[in-house]
Amino acid sequence: MLIPPHKLMYSFVRPMLFRLDAERAHDLTMANLERISKVPFLTQQMNNIYGRCVPDLPVTCMGLDFKNPVGLAAGLDKDARAFPAFSAIGFSGVEMGTVTPQPQPGNDKPRIFRLLEDEGMINRLGFNSGGVEAFLENIRRTEQTGIAGINIGKNASTPIDQAHVDYVSALQRVYAKADYITVNISSPNTKSLRDLQNESYLDDLLLKIKTAQAKCQKVHKRAVPIALKVAPDLADDEIESIAELVISHQFDALIATNTTIARPESLKSDLSEEVGGLSGAPLKQASTDCIRKFYDLLQGKVQIIGVGGIKTADDAWEKLVAGADYLQVYTQFIYQGPGLVNDIVTGLQSKVADKGHSSLAAAVDEAREHANRSR
Ligand SMILES: Cc1cc2nc3c(=O)[nH]c(=O)nc-3n(C[C@H](O)[C@H](O)[C@H](O)COP(=O)(O)O)c2cc1C
Repeated sequence: MLIPPHKLMYSFVRPMLFRLDAERAHDLTMANLERISKVPFLTQQMNNIYGRCVPDLPVTCMGLDFKNPVGLAAGLDKDARAFPAFSAIGFSGVEMGTVTPQPQPGNDKPRIFRLLEDEGMINRLGFNSGGVEAFLENIRRTEQTGIAGINIGKNASTPIDQAHVDYVSALQRVYAKADYITVNISSPNTKSLRDLQNESYLDDLLLKIKTAQAKCQKVHKRAVPIALKVAPDLADDEIESIAELVISHQFDALIATNTTIARPESLKSDLSEEVGGLSGAPLKQASTDCIRKFYDLLQGKVQIIGVGGIKTADDAWEKLVAGADYLQVYTQFIYQGPGLVNDIVTGLQSKVADKGHSSLAAAVDEAREHANRSR
């Protein structure tokens, strides 16, 4: 079968990258994307090859107008080194980070594993971060074109009952440079982090974050929306309490989901028992189920960003119908390369046209109503 032009380059690059250890391949890719980001001519070439071919399919989420529904999920550009290159690829939003207030190395290597047979990955990076000051320096060095999300976390050495200090200080530092900010309390690789999803911690944490946001809004004369990123491994009562809290604290969005600590029985890869968070195809169903449960509870009062195992336009559509207003991808970008954005957006655009609608939101609304009636 003929390889389409937007897939051609990666069909040569991927076998070379996949021969390397996963983190080495990541470092090499990021070094190249960083170089491209620093030279406007190269960024423009990247855009000519990839971004320009992605059709417009506008969506609004958190009050922000995204030119298409596909963004880059957090964790790939942890230190804000390649925002222009990722935008040029066609992502309508790039979530950088997780950034921690102080620099920290993360866990020992190896800490990223490709589960080839399962089209998944396991990582236990543990918030390796150059720290917020280096992150901001990197942002200042490149031109910002597109929607910049900044995902913040806590340092491993900060006790869990002091976590709010890290989140508030990171939020204050990145506020001026962010189009939206994500509070990440769901990585499985920082000890006790996910305990912050418990009602007893979360109420207080969300209050402190909203208070800091209100102060920043006054200083910077600009409202920056805030999202909360959750794990797919929550029990139903935890989902209920988180939904109540994001509504009562007026968060702008909920990002569902981060990686899972579960190991579905269907996994085939030898590496599936590695410790860490599982992402990609084996996460898809759990993440979609989580979105659906949150959507039933949030009832549009807080928007949902859907992420977890999206590989095709059909996967993307499933997440939108389950309740997502906007989408992100990570693992399939590693497997399929930059052509993925075009494939998903083009596929969604065809669905909208086939259903006789002029906007994605209208097509999704109709499909949600239909799904509700048949439940
Ligand atoms: C190697 C790797 C590193 C990640 N690092 C972060 C991170 O720093 N912060 C975060 O919120 N999510 C992180 N994630 C989770 C992704 O943002 C995403 O939520 C998850 O991988 C599910 O999406 P996917 O199946 O499309 O990969 C990471 C995922 C991977 C694979």
